[in-house]
Amino acid sequence: MTKENIFTMDTSGIKFGNGCTEEVGYEAKRFGIRKALIITDKKIEKLSLFQAVKDSLGKYGVYFSVYNDVVTEPTDTSFKNASSFASDGDYDGFIAVGGGSVMDTTKAANLYSTYPADFLDYVNAPIGKGIPIPGPLKPLICVPTTAGTGSETTGGAIFDLEEMHAKTGLSDRYLRPTVGIIDPENTKTMPKMVAACSGFDVLSHGIESFTAKPFNQREYSEDPKLRPAYQGSNPISDIWATSTIKMVAENIVESTLNNNEASREKMMLAASAAGVGFGNAGVHLPHGMSYAVSGNVKEFTLDGYPEGKPLVPHGLSVIINAPAVFRFTSTTSPERHLEAAKLLGVDISEKSSDKAGNLISNKLIEFIRKLEMPNGLRGLGYNESDIDNLVEGTLPQHRVTKLSPIDVGKKELRMLFEESFELW
Ligand SMILES: [Fe+2]
Repeated sequence: MTKENIFTMDTSGIKFGNGCTEEVGYEAKRFGIRKALIITDKKIEKLSLFQAVKDSLGKYGVYFSVYNDVVTEPTDTSFKNASSFASDGDYDGFIAVGGGSVMDTTKAANLYSTYPADFLDYVNAPIGKGIPIPGPLKPLICVPTTAGTGSETTGGAIFDLEEMHAKTGLSDRYLRPTVGIIDPENTKTMPKMVAACSGFDVLSHGIESFTAKPFNQREYSEDPKLRPAYQGSNPISDIWATSTIKMVAENIVESTLNNNEASREKMMLAASAAGVGFGNAGVHLPHGMSYAVSGNVKEFTLDGYPEGKPLVPHGLSVIINAPAVFRFTSTTSPERHLEAAKLLGVDISEKSSDKAGNLISNKLIEFIRKLEMPNGLRGLGYNESDIDNLVEGTLPQHRVTKLSPIDVGKKELRMLFEESFELW
């Protein structure tokens, strides 16, 4: 196998700072949008920040319609509904106002209304056909209202494929938003548990992209079009990942438990920085395993999320498996894992790198307990008889599992899920 020797670094524009939501109209005009489709959900639509978006578009003479039917943790059906709404109007740009679910739905609507196709054509292989998007999409401006997914800076869109009970997604450079309008004031009203779960998502984005299989251990892409958006760790994404891990470790507790303003700003910045890093490097097993965990949800619910619908929030389904994963992967790059432990705030002065996986794992469990999260998969309502389903739901997640620094099959995944049943 000829090894890859090329990596690329694509980024969205970033506009950051308190009050920058009021500049969304300026940005829309700058990118030539005259008739926008704003995509949001019914909760966000009632907030003053949504009014600020509409006022700003009005000020700059940008016409708009609103689609407010996004569902939390979207499905193929909800992606299709938004796409057909978008296809019915001749919009020349999109504005997503909301969290990861809203931003991902907007990416799908932009794609399928611009290049109509069978839904599974662009969906990641082997679940879908994984056909590359044929060309540039319409301008997409994202105004995130959580500090989590980093979707405002990535080319990924995740959804639940209902018939499979597993999450999968779209992943392509052309899906990357044109600009993210990152206004820390928009996360002020984020419920405590939403802050905790989205913060854990950011933290795992940082550690996973830093420890992912290096880009030069993948097979060389003869055709540049087929080089994946998730390429493996590389020297530039490392810069974003390391700064993310440090920022989150220093601020996740304070921003979640005390809604401290300065910490909240740092979390927002970290979410976008992580997106730039993992949007090029990729994530690996904690995310790969999380899609099966959230797809097989039973009765679990958490305060702050939509009522009446069992749901394991994305960040929680990721972090619950992370301690076991990093204990497992640390042998592949002990020094890198030790560096991650240090960035998490562990004193490594007298620690050797062969303990690095445990150091990361213990620190993560400390954060999980401080933020009052459930104790492992059992706390989410799973028992041992669910393991086969969890393993089967993870195996097809090639886009991320192939970036694990160690190859995994059924046996390894089973061991990792077993170790995630109880964390303490
Ligand atoms: Fe994530």
